[in-house]
Amino acid sequence: MPFNQQFITLNNGNKIPAIAIIGTGTRWYKEEETDATFSNSLVEQIVYALKLPGIIHIDAAEIYRTYPEVGKALSLTEKPRNEIFLTDKYSTQIKVSESPAVGLDIALKKMGTDYVDLYLLHSPFVSKETNGFTLEEAWKDMEQLYRSGKAKNIGVSNFAMKDLERILKVAEIRPQVNQIEFSPFLQNQTPGIYKFCQENDILLEAYSPLGPLQKRTTKDESLPFFEYVKELSEKYIKSEAQITLRWVTRRGVLPVTTSSKPQRISDAQNLFSFDLTDEEVNQITELGLEHEPLRLYWNKVYDKYNYAAQKV
Ligand SMILES: NC(=O)c1ccc[n+]([C@@H]2O[C@H](COP(=O)([O-])OP(=O)(O)OC[C@H]3O[C@@H](n4cnc5c(N)ncnc54)[C@H](OP(=O)(O)O)[C@@H]3O)[C@@H](O)[C@H]2O)c1
Repeated sequence: MPFNQQFITLNNGNKIPAIAIIGTGTRWYKEEETDATFSNSLVEQIVYALKLPGIIHIDAAEIYRTYPEVGKALSLTEKPRNEIFLTDKYSTQIKVSESPAVGLDIALKKMGTDYVDLYLLHSPFVSKETNGFTLEEAWKDMEQLYRSGKAKNIGVSNFAMKDLERILKVAEIRPQVNQIEFSPFLQNQTPGIYKFCQENDILLEAYSPLGPLQKRTTKDESLPFFEYVKELSEKYIKSEAQITLRWVTRRGVLPVTTSSKPQRISDAQNLFSFDLTDEEVNQITELGLEHEPLRLYWNKVYDKYNYAAQKV
């Protein structure tokens, strides 16, 4: 089967591979970064991913404490650096380093690279009291990193409309990306965010795009959503995960997925070997909206939006 990769053009004209296949958070997340917690299986999966054709998009973050594994995999691969798209995130909610600039320098050193392709503020929860700087000041730091070339693109994560509006007021460089939780069962992490980002040319990335599959129980199998995804999986001879990820891309959103299984990592990189019809995309959207909201992350701050957030 011919390999076909797709790219999205960001608001600064740069291109980004349209899926991130190896997130290093969630199942790989660690409380501590020590020799004892070093994960050889994460290294193996990243090295495997880096053998696949095309540009490989890896998603990292300061708070995941997986820089040693990413660094090890980068040192082992034969794939040239310009065929790797590396995303990193500065931890805001929990302070790990002094500032985005300090955090990125440490990250680059640990991962053994000179730049990241995309650097994000992990959340909008920044304050002078907790962090020593405001959200606006954090963004100014991000802009400096962009200008220095250490971050080829910059953006945010888990931002609601009001947070983006604050940034846009002071920005000389607009955020290229907002990485949020997005799946058929959570189509707006916060009210209006999908439409706002589309209208402002800020690319949405979807983490936990497979939430519905991750949380499915035996009794869910007869629900119309799961029956439909199964029907499409049989029609296209693709996995249910591929059907769900392809739906994300057809909504104009970049999925950020991960797996501990080589076949699933390879399936994600091969996502563009098939397509869904407009009618199928709409049907998944509608059946997803009929389901009660499923939110896996940032529940404390965003559960209050669960029902408003389902509206597209
Ligand atoms: N910015 C943020 O605040 C934030 C928050 C959360 C995540 N993230 C990023 O997003 C990445 C991906 O998040 P995620 O892990 O929640 O993504 P996901 O793509 O929704 O889920 C991946 C998980 O789903 C499982 N899976 C794959 N296919 C499946 C199937 N057919 N049925 C049931 N389970 C299936 C995989 O398990 P196997 O290993 O068994 O294949 C894997 O653990 C993270 O690693 C992180 O980099 C960012």
